Amino acid sequence: MKKRDEGQLTMDALASLCKRRGFIYQTSEIYGGINGFWDYGPMGTELKRNVRDAWWADVVRRREDVVGLDSSIIMHPRVWEASGHVGGFSDPMVDCRACKKRFKADAFCEEQGLELQVEGKHFVLPEGVQCTACGSKDLTEPRAFDLMFRTHVGPVEDDSSVAYLRPETAQGIFAQFSNVLATSRQKIPFGIAQIGKAFRNEINPRNYTFRSREFEQMELEFFIKPGTDSEWHAYWVNERLKWYSSIGLPESSLHKQVHPKEKLAHYASACTDVAYDFPFGTQELEGIAARGAFDLTQHQTFSGKSMEYFDPDTNEHFIPHVVEPSAGVDRIALALLCNAYREEWVPGAKVEGGVLAAEPGGKPPEGYEARVVMRFSPRVAPVKVAVFPLLKNKPELVAKARQVFDMLRVRWSCFWDQTGAIGRRYRRQDEIGTPCGVTIDFQTLDDDTVTVRDRDTMEQIRVPVKELTDSLARTIGC
Ligand code: GAP
Repeated sequence: MKKRDEGQLTMDALASLCKRRGFIYQTSEIYGGINGFWDYGPMGTELKRNVRDAWWADVVRRREDVVGLDSSIIMHPRVWEASGHVGGFSDPMVDCRACKKRFKADAFCEEQGLELQVEGKHFVLPEGVQCTACGSKDLTEPRAFDLMFRTHVGPVEDDSSVAYLRPETAQGIFAQFSNVLATSRQKIPFGIAQIGKAFRNEINPRNYTFRSREFEQMELEFFIKPGTDSEWHAYWVNERLKWYSSIGLPESSLHKQVHPKEKLAHYASACTDVAYDFPFGTQELEGIAARGAFDLTQHQTFSGKSMEYFDPDTNEHFIPHVVEPSAGVDRIALALLCNAYREEWVPGAKVEGGVLAAEPGGKPPEGYEARVVMRFSPRVAPVKVAVFPLLKNKPELVAKARQVFDMLRVRWSCFWDQTGAIGRRYRRQDEIGTPCGVTIDFQTLDDDTVTVRDRDTMEQIRVPVKELTDSLARTIGC
């Protein structure tokens, strides 16, 4: 099935499915929405939860050398001075005086094949740059735009009560390094992981949920002995790439983007992004950075509290270095949605045959009908099994189907659907990407077998109820 090369997947088609099937809605839509903020509906909530659970299982639970943390979103403002975010976390922006649109200056230049210039502490627009919206050359000079959301803590709104919504979860980890070390019985190398919301007042939120103002991060700070940075960095790049395959993103759509040495922050020794081929271009899902001792040293300096580690094996004291794999839940969910989306032609009631690749804008051949199917890996599919009594007005079918449903839902997220023609019910599940459908029909009442339908091949097999859980587990794999 070819898709985006042929222009088959547009973000509009995806957004329409996401709204129709309860994955993603515009936030506070009834009031006209607010740019850069999104709500996840029932299916999106399950999808995101599965992403988080898969990450937590593989990065924390299945390892002995990583522990979890859940730090507060609002922290002491000094945290953000130490981290360099206060005064330093800004994007250069440029305004068009003609059409009044505002752009992120670096991306704006890049789109025109130009590079934003840096002169000392200032950004300067290159020769020939023009507004990408209206073509005007009447542009402001780039100005720094603070990305942190500010608020006030307590009843008085003055400078002394200013606080920030965290722009990353990482600093909560660094600020609690000593407490976790003292209470977790870990020895270096070990990691602290955290999943949580982060907020950035992005100049130009765009590409659906890709660049949002409120989003969720999954970050690991893996503390290591100085000098082992490059080997641990390579280790985590490899681990993280494998993880993306484990949630169903094909290797061919993933790219390792190595940051050139001259573009690294002064304290970093390496940074590699994992990028995915979105319909709007190849874009970052995660960055894996070797940040040296920068963060802990900064917090030691600003707090006056030691961040040193004593190595009992070598009797050495040192500030640990860190390798940081930092991923975005929303971006991964978006990549999974893009990757899963297929438009196909499938046999209608009167013809036999397999699934055909739909042609963009084309009409299905005689006897076939079009379907949209989300081919999620079962590991992340929002619903694993749908259960259908063939007819809702036959109490014995409904009662038997309820028994099957109750048996399966102790293990998997299941969907009960008794309304409408069975074909229509299958299509509804295809659109939310449910890997297996189980239908309870009259034969079930005779021989205690059910029909199991496979989402991708649409093949149907009969399975005895007593073998159903094992049979489904082979498809679902978890
Ligand atoms: N602590 C390092 C850090 O925050 P980052 O590259 O700025 O690094 C890490 O962010 C990840 O967080 C990104 O790879 C991306 O997945 C996600 N992310 C960052 N900004 C985002 C935004 N505005 N909207 C959605 N996700 C975002």
